[in-house]
Amino acid sequence: MTLQIIVGAQWGDEGKGRIVDWFAASSDYVARYNGGDNAGHSVTVGKNLFKLHLIPSGIIQKNAIAILGNGMVINPASLLEEMEMLRAHGIIVNPSRLRISYGAHVILPSHQALDKALDTARGKDNIGTTGKGIGPAYTDKAVRRGIRMIDLLSPDLPTKLGSLTNQINDQLIQLHAEPLDPEKVISKFLEYQAILSPYIADTSLELSKAFNDGKSILAEGAQGTLLDIDHGTYPFVTSSNVTATGVFPGLGLGLNAAQNAIVTGVCKSFQTRVGSGPFPTEVFGAEAERLRGTGANPWDEFGTTTGRARRVGWLDGVLLNYSARINGLTELIITKMDILTGLEKINYCLAYKKGATQFTDLVNGPSDLNGYEPIYDQLVGWDQDLGSIRKWAELPKAAQDYVRAISDHTRLPVKMVCVGPERDQVVLVN
Ligand code: GDP
Ligand code: IMO
Ligand code: MG
Repeated sequence: MTLQIIVGAQWGDEGKGRIVDWFAASSDYVARYNGGDNAGHSVTVGKNLFKLHLIPSGIIQKNAIAILGNGMVINPASLLEEMEMLRAHGIIVNPSRLRISYGAHVILPSHQALDKALDTARGKDNIGTTGKGIGPAYTDKAVRRGIRMIDLLSPDLPTKLGSLTNQINDQLIQLHAEPLDPEKVISKFLEYQAILSPYIADTSLELSKAFNDGKSILAEGAQGTLLDIDHGTYPFVTSSNVTATGVFPGLGLGLNAAQNAIVTGVCKSFQTRVGSGPFPTEVFGAEAERLRGTGANPWDEFGTTTGRARRVGWLDGVLLNYSARINGLTELIITKMDILTGLEKINYCLAYKKGATQFTDLVNGPSDLNGYEPIYDQLVGWDQDLGSIRKWAELPKAAQDYVRAISDHTRLPVKMVCVGPERDQVVLVN
């Protein structure tokens, strides 16, 4: 009877996908609780690089049952594409392995069009969304006109689709964007309906029963804590509850499952962000190019979903402590330690300074970080290639010291560090 929650501790892209894949090997269920195909989760298995956007990364392991929770917003076209991609790699994707909550909301083509039109209209203040229709789909959920997966089982589907498409068309026209043809949307959705209906289920009931029967549930977060709609760098956030407590409404689990839950924060050894918004430890120029990479390697800092260059900087311990608190983290995993190899000095942000005052905690949350300057602890780097190391004792002392510094500052145990993108490129910390 365990619940383990894998949550991004930064602004997303921390390496959650490969960590979920690791733990899914010994889990009965793996369940996504938030977001949609704005997520891009990579799992590297030998020559295969899987990029998952909707289906939990645990599907790649043979046994875990994959659940798309009610807290998600699902673009059926993307989902079908992903199912085909997995099948092409020999992975079994059928209703005995994959279930979709009847309560998950559906992303329509008009949500995508509206997302793009709204962000364009924001001009220089744009959020830099992924353009996947996430904000508009969650808006329609909140104003109670959204279409849910359960509607795919209803004869009223065409009427609902036509009505919502027409309502969004009014908004698109006001924004000088092209309206969509409701008939085309309806005919596409009738195709999706035929394929997806057998996958729609009461996943809340199933997960709750599984939990009570002593099964293990791995909850896969999308995005990162600082992109949470309530606790992130608002308004430069996504539209869902990313943080660990989002698991309960997002999967329909009760708080009994919270007892003894393991809450694993995944944190990159440095800091990245895609899109606009504050970033106190951001670096530029040659220093940034060094952390980002050129794009020649699949793990270089270019978006899995959009291909955009990620902004990069030093690991921000102030934000990491905030993330530990908001999520109730019980442990940390640090990815991409290998990327720091060869750096003479590594900066770790211990506190901020504004004027003459030092801050170790955020003032009124992370939204207004303007004018806060990082105060760094400067640690010594290392030269050894870490890629083949599998034992803690074999890591260079400077790498161990960096991990210990993070653990001491956050007062959290670091359970594992990653030294490359491959499934087995991990070092358990002891
Ligand atoms: P997610 O959204 O949190 O699942 O992360 P992404 O998959 O979007 O981005 C993480 C990138 O880093 C992917 O390309 C991973 O294959 C890669 N990655 C994860 N862990 C490591 C690591 O320890 N070392 C290296 N070099 N790459 C890693
Ligand atoms: P994973 O799960 C990194 C960012 C976008 C934008 C903001 C809002 O791979 O870690 P949205 O399309 O959600 O309305 O965009 O959030 N964003 C992500 N950044 N990783 C992600 O997911 C992200 N999903 C959304 O870049 O700044
Ligand atoms: Mg990603």
